[in-house]
Amino acid sequence: MERPAPTETPDDRPDDTASAGPRDAAPAVTLFVCQTCRTPGTPPEDAPQGARLAEAVRAAAHDPDVEVKPVRCLSNCKRGLSAAMVRAGGWSYVFGDLTPASAPDLLAGATLFAGSTDGLMPWRGRPDCLKRGMIARVPPLFFTEEPR
Ligand code: FES
Repeated sequence: MERPAPTETPDDRPDDTASAGPRDAAPAVTLFVCQTCRTPGTPPEDAPQGARLAEAVRAAAHDPDVEVKPVRCLSNCKRGLSAAMVRAGGWSYVFGDLTPASAPDLLAGATLFAGSTDGLMPWRGRPDCLKRGMIARVPPLFFTEEPR
């Protein structure tokens, strides 16, 4: 039996990535940076280092697929500076033991996560601080896994 000819090839599809107008879809990944975190041992009169990290991330952000939002406390206060990444339909991640210098790594990880095809942040290519500092990952809302 003969198979029907395909009606559309990849080269025939409209280029939906070419848009000069304003973004009309939500960013793939939201990066929440805790702005109230303090490195252990910081005097209480000093400004929280989390605010420096949040500002550094905001200033360096340039990927339209990554939205940066400051947040007050991710309940990870004892693990240094903290951030979380959330992706609709994907896994969510909480990271700790960050420093104000972690901004480029957070943004690189968010871009890596935004480009993943399975909703997971790839391990390969992930910055080291997002490997060592991973506190938790949370499955997507409708995720189910067979019991073992
Ligand atoms: S103050 Fe940053 S996690 Fe609590």
